[in-house]
Amino acid sequence: MTYSRIIGTGSYLPERLLTNADFEKLIDTTDQWIVERTGIKVRHIAAENELTSDLAVAAARRALEAANVVPANIDLVIVGTTTPDRVFPSTACIVQAKLGIANACPAFDVQAVCSGFVYALATANNFIKAGQARTALVIGAETLSRITDYSDRGNCMLWGDGAGAVVLTASEEPGIISTHIHADGRYQELLYVDGGPSMGNTEKPAMRMQGNPVFKMAVNTLDAIVDETLAANGMEKADIDWLVPHQANIRIIQATGKKLGLPAERVVITVDQHGNTSAASIPLALDTAVRDGRIKRGQTLLMEAFGGGFTWGSALVKF
Ligand code: COA
Repeated sequence: MTYSRIIGTGSYLPERLLTNADFEKLIDTTDQWIVERTGIKVRHIAAENELTSDLAVAAARRALEAANVVPANIDLVIVGTTTPDRVFPSTACIVQAKLGIANACPAFDVQAVCSGFVYALATANNFIKAGQARTALVIGAETLSRITDYSDRGNCMLWGDGAGAVVLTASEEPGIISTHIHADGRYQELLYVDGGPSMGNTEKPAMRMQGNPVFKMAVNTLDAIVDETLAANGMEKADIDWLVPHQANIRIIQATGKKLGLPAERVVITVDQHGNTSAASIPLALDTAVRDGRIKRGQTLLMEAFGGGFTWGSALVKF
C-alpha cells in the first residue's frame, strides 16, 4: 500500500508585528480582554509589497530544504489560501513559477478558509495514494490583514499573516493515516467576506463574523471530528501524541485538548504569537514544534480545523 509521508516542514512569518497595545489605539478594547477571550498577544502583518505567494514561497523553500528535495522534483503544488494574490492565476501557479518548477506539474489552490491546509493535505494525499503524484508541495498561506476591517472590534484582533508548508512523498510506511473533510454551506452568513468578483464590492471586501455562534459551532464540530477520526482508525485518545490544531482561539483549542484528554504540553499552541492565520496556522504550528524538537519522527499527530463555509476536517499523521 502506498502512503504519503511528510518529509519536510517549513514556515515564514512577516517581520512587522501588531500587538494588543496597538489594538488598544485602534479600537475600544484592552490587552486583558483580548488575551482572556482569544489567547492572542501578537500577530505578524505582511509588508505592503509582500504578497501571499511571497510568504508561500519563503515557507516552501524552508520545507524543501528540510526535506532535501529540489524544486524540480516536485510534481504537484497545492496552496490552501483564502487571500490569493489575484483572482487568477491561482497562487499555486505563481508559487510554481517563483520556485522555478518548470516541469508542467499540476498546481492549484484550495479554498476552504481556515480548513484550507487540511483540505489541501487531504487532496495531495489522495493524489499520491492514487499514483498520480510522487512528491507534493502543500502550502497554507494567507495575508488576512488585506481583508480585515480594522474598525470591526468584534473580529479585527483575531487575524494574522503567515505561511507554512510541507513536502509529502510516496512511501510504503505511513505517513498520513487518514484524512476527514466536511462542509455545510448553510452557515455561510455567520462567517464570510462581504464582496467578490461576482457580487461586486471588490474595492475593499472584508471579513464579517458573528463570533459567538461561530465559537460554539467550532467547539461542537471539532469534538465530533475527533471522535470520527479515532473511530475510523480503531484508535484510542491515548494513541495521540500531539494535537496540532488550527489556531483560532485558545479556548477552542483547549476544549479539543480536553476532549482528547491530552495534557497542555501535548497541544501545540502558537495562537498567542501568530493570531489566526487561517489556512497557514496548522503548518505554521507543525513547523514550530518540529523545529524546536517537540514533535519527533514516529509520533502520532492529530491535526484539526474549522472555518468559514462552514468547512472542517482532520488529518491523522504518523510523523
Ligand atoms: N474588546 C473588548 N470587548 C469586546 C470586544 C473587544 N475587541 N469585542 C466585543 N467585545 C464585547 C462585546 O461588546 C460584549 O459586550 P457586552 O457584554 O457589554 O455586550 C462582550 O465583549 C461579549 O461579546 P461577545 O461577542 O459575546 O464576545 P465573545 O466572548 O464571544 O468573544 C470572540 C468574541 C470573537 C473572541 C469569540 O466569539 C470568538 O473567538 N469566536 C470564534 C471566532 C473564530 O475563531 N473565528 C474563526 C473560526 S476559524
